[in-house]
Amino acid sequence: MSNSGEQPSAYGEGDLTYEEYLTVRELLDLQEPRSEPAHHDEMLFIIIHQAYELWFKLIRHELTSAMEAMREGEILGARHFVDRIVEVMDLLVDQIHILETMEPVEFLQFRDRLAPASGFQSVQFREIEFACGLKDERYLEMLDEDAAKRLAGRLEEPDLRTTYYAMLADQGYPLPAEPTHETLDGDLRDNVMHALTDLYMEPDGNLPLYLLTEALIELDETMGLWREHHVRVVERIIGHKRGTGGSSGVGYLKQTTDKRCFPHLWDVRTYLGADEVPTPTELDT
Ligand code: HEM
Repeated sequence: MSNSGEQPSAYGEGDLTYEEYLTVRELLDLQEPRSEPAHHDEMLFIIIHQAYELWFKLIRHELTSAMEAMREGEILGARHFVDRIVEVMDLLVDQIHILETMEPVEFLQFRDRLAPASGFQSVQFREIEFACGLKDERYLEMLDEDAAKRLAGRLEEPDLRTTYYAMLADQGYPLPAEPTHETLDGDLRDNVMHALTDLYMEPDGNLPLYLLTEALIELDETMGLWREHHVRVVERIIGHKRGTGGSSGVGYLKQTTDKRCFPHLWDVRTYLGADEVPTPTELDT
């Protein structure tokens, strides 16, 4: 209900309504089934994907703030944003199962109408991967020119992984101020493992940093869980049919479940309590 000038709202005097503020009408006009007559389940299929895209938008937004906070040395601020992303990811893991209320045969009745469209082409999903450090140029080929250009820009930018290790350097760990994926995985791998072993063996030495680091591995874990739940649901619905985007389908998706944004955070567990811990090399500063 809108408030007239004579009956001002308790919290303000404007006429703004819920529908206007949230552009609800426009939002509800955005579901356009392709099947004719419209198949009942296509509404679910469209809405679930649109809901994911909205949450992806929020994740991108929070990732930007998490990286800004890291650059500013606001460790707990960064953790706050990462925690929120984890909450959203938990929701996204659960949400995929709503699709299991759609019978495989029902999906077959409109699947052809959406090919060659596919989650493969979700630019926001790739942006999230790239922003987290999973930069694979091959995905650019699957996108239209505009989207590929947008994503290509991300290739050169610092990502969550490099920003995190740059922050560790700021905190006094023997890492370069501007680490790259190549150095972190190559020459500097021992330095990274040494720093993380110190941090994990003595969390109280830098508790905020420890808590942020645990939030980052949780983010990585929930992203992996999304991949695992998605592939299970896909197998349940289309078996081993090829994907509408042209991949082998389940075979391809299974390979992606091993992707890690923070491989070192997983690896460090192996060193905890072990006799031999990597020794860092001196850095030319
Ligand atoms: C009936 C439900 C679904 C089926 C059968 C399905 C199937 C597939 C298949 C076969 C692929 C591999 C690429 C291809 O060849 O097309 C794929 C990729 C993908 N799907 Fe789905 N999907 C479904 C629901 C969803 C939903 C609800 C989302 C939410 C956004 C989603 C997001 C993605 C993403 C982001 C990828 C790319 C994954 C990657 O390359 O790592 N899918 N999907």
